Amino acid sequence: MTVREVLDAAVPALKGAGCDTPRLDAEVLVADALGVDRATILTSPQLPIAPAASRLLSERVRRRVGREPVAYILGRKGFRHIELAVDVRVLIPRPETELLVELALELPEGARVHDVGTGSGAVALALLHERPDLIVSASDSSSAAVEVARANAARLGLPLTVVEWRGLPDGDYELVLANLPYVREDQWGGLAPEIVGFEPRDALVSGPEGLDAIRALVRESPAGTHVALEHAPDQAAAVRTLLHAPATYPDLSGRERVTAGTVP
Ligand SMILES: C[S@@+](CC[C@H](N)C(=O)[O-])C[C@H]1O[C@@H](n2cnc3c(N)ncnc32)[C@H](O)[C@@H]1O
Repeated sequence: MTVREVLDAAVPALKGAGCDTPRLDAEVLVADALGVDRATILTSPQLPIAPAASRLLSERVRRRVGREPVAYILGRKGFRHIELAVDVRVLIPRPETELLVELALELPEGARVHDVGTGSGAVALALLHERPDLIVSASDSSSAAVEVARANAARLGLPLTVVEWRGLPDGDYELVLANLPYVREDQWGGLAPEIVGFEPRDALVSGPEGLDAIRALVRESPAGTHVALEHAPDQAAAVRTLLHAPATYPDLSGRERVTAGTVP
């Protein structure tokens, strides 16, 4: 079979299954199975696909038809300038979360930063990668997520300490970053099949208003702690009321996504 023949079969199958970006997904899966980049797929439709790669690809397209996210199928996700290993134990890092890293890039040399609810380690590891002078630590209430974050740190050769902890571990931090769960309980069932069927619910849902974990973190952190909290755009006003001198920052789509301030 050739690349074109495989794409001609996979794209309609993914479209029929309701995938938002069937062609992109198919091209990414084919490129990975062949060990080439997507540009090669686009420019070489006659490229032959060997039987072993073809079998791997059929299995992966079948998983994607079942709405498994491409990142879980491939076992990796890019985030800023690093690539993280991901599986169903952790949330797939989202582009809007890169804003948390950007805010921390402005810190002075040697500052101590803690990432609460680190998941795959995305925020803490991307920050350490770009600012190796910072002293970065991370935590998560899920022991499975802690394992994933530690493995990512080891694979990337970055000196990140990750502990299992709910809320903020004791420490002296110049800035605390947190992308905690913020989906409302009643929103869960209406989310995309990729999320509901595969991503960990505890990483996403946090009480009737989606604010339980954020409120608990602020309530339990020492007064004067500087925090930057990711939230849904419609939660920005509520999060500002939790903090002293709050400032809200927009994500790439211009929506209010992160609020920074001091714990009162
Ligand atoms: C939305 S995910 C974010 C993961 C990662 N920071 C990212 O952006 O890709 C939230 C993470 O917070 C963890 N978590 C949930 N409640 C927590 C709490 N109260 N304290 C610490 N971690 C918590 C979950 O296990 C999950 O890994």
